[in-house]
Amino acid sequence: MKDHPPSPSVNLRPSLRTLEPSPVLAASETTDILRAQGTPVAKLALSQSPFPVPDSLVQALRQAAPIKSYAPVQGLLPLREKIAAYLKRRFQVERSPEDVLIGPGSKELCFLLSLAHEGPLIVPTPCWSSIIPQARILHKPLFLIHTTREDQFMLRPDTLSNTLCSTDLRGAILYLNSPSNPCGLTYSKEELEAFAELARAHDLLILSDESYAELHHKGQHLSIAPFCPERTLVLTGLSKWVGAGGWRLGYLSIPPDLHPLRRAMVALASQTFTATSTPIQWAAISAFEESAEIENYLMNVRRVLSALGRLVARRIQAHGATCPQPHGGLHVFIDWSAFPRPLPFSTGQALCSHLLHKARIALSPGIAFGRPTQELSARLSYVDFDGTRALSAVQVIPREQPIDETFLRRHCGPTLEALDRLLDWMRELQGE
Ligand SMILES: Cc1ncc(COP(=O)(O)O)c(C=O)c1O
Repeated sequence: MKDHPPSPSVNLRPSLRTLEPSPVLAASETTDILRAQGTPVAKLALSQSPFPVPDSLVQALRQAAPIKSYAPVQGLLPLREKIAAYLKRRFQVERSPEDVLIGPGSKELCFLLSLAHEGPLIVPTPCWSSIIPQARILHKPLFLIHTTREDQFMLRPDTLSNTLCSTDLRGAILYLNSPSNPCGLTYSKEELEAFAELARAHDLLILSDESYAELHHKGQHLSIAPFCPERTLVLTGLSKWVGAGGWRLGYLSIPPDLHPLRRAMVALASQTFTATSTPIQWAAISAFEESAEIENYLMNVRRVLSALGRLVARRIQAHGATCPQPHGGLHVFIDWSAFPRPLPFSTGQALCSHLLHKARIALSPGIAFGRPTQELSARLSYVDFDGTRALSAVQVIPREQPIDETFLRRHCGPTLEALDRLLDWMRELQGE
């Protein structure tokens, strides 16, 4: 018998020793495992679009598949040109193709930005689940602002102003996300103007995460960039609005005044991911073209999401939990802290685990979005249905005709059945 060779040493960086995989992705993977074992769990944990990728993009990807060479680090020029024109046409954001950096998902670009920029990151919570862990990995100073139920879990200008007057955060990046993940809420024009003014007065940069811009339920997204063009970086990608999360394409538009930051990020990109997939970039071009196909697609996607999101929030509120009506996106945020009966859970994670096993509903706990462990909150993504079928069904309903519950029951069934189970559970808790 041979002796065992000595075990290899594993020297993890201290900042990674306690790093857990994203609770959102973990909840989604647990759901997949339970489903594979035959337990019919509703997949409401991950904000993945249920709708198909528009046909023009799929056809363009087929054609581009043989292109095998690396793309330029910053991204294909024809794509960056299309994005610059699109940003101006849709959201009045004035950027040149030179100001745009393409990456393999906006998540990666956000990470590289946090790496390149020296200084704190201000994050209102609840927030997108990766922004805080990324900063922690990089030892970036984080300044969290926990918003309140009274403020509908959104940052308000007064709150930001008070924070900036009591703490010197000059040079920081302020992360803003509208329509927001996890709440689906947006900022008003007045709020955006006030944030822009505060950014100038306190020398902040703004990272405006507009991943759900095109999923504003009324198609009326407002970007903060026109109010503060010299300080606003706009981050988004293909993942949500054309349903292409798995294609992994994001972009960051950086104001020309910040060109040293852009240069540093391009250098980092060149030494890390090299360039984004070339066929995906060619295919993405058609997403940013002015086309009746994409306009129609988005109009119909919004009709379904808006009707479904409103119904879900209304019913949850009527059963005693806090759940602001979403303005956009694919999700709502639920808080049971003011529920008429105290809930028998000490953490949001325990609550979500109970719902998974008792009601077969996978939600993402509030802690994933930077909320306190004890807060009994969770995100519900109303995306468990066949988006291809729902899209073909909504297309034949006249535009002016509202989408009613009968339609939603027929075409978004699994989500509404899960909602019914959630409401039954809430009724049971209230002893009804
Ligand atoms: C608000 C927000 N920002 C960024 C991302 C990252 O998107 P991607 O890396 O797929 O472009 C997500 C994904 O869920 C998100 O919800």
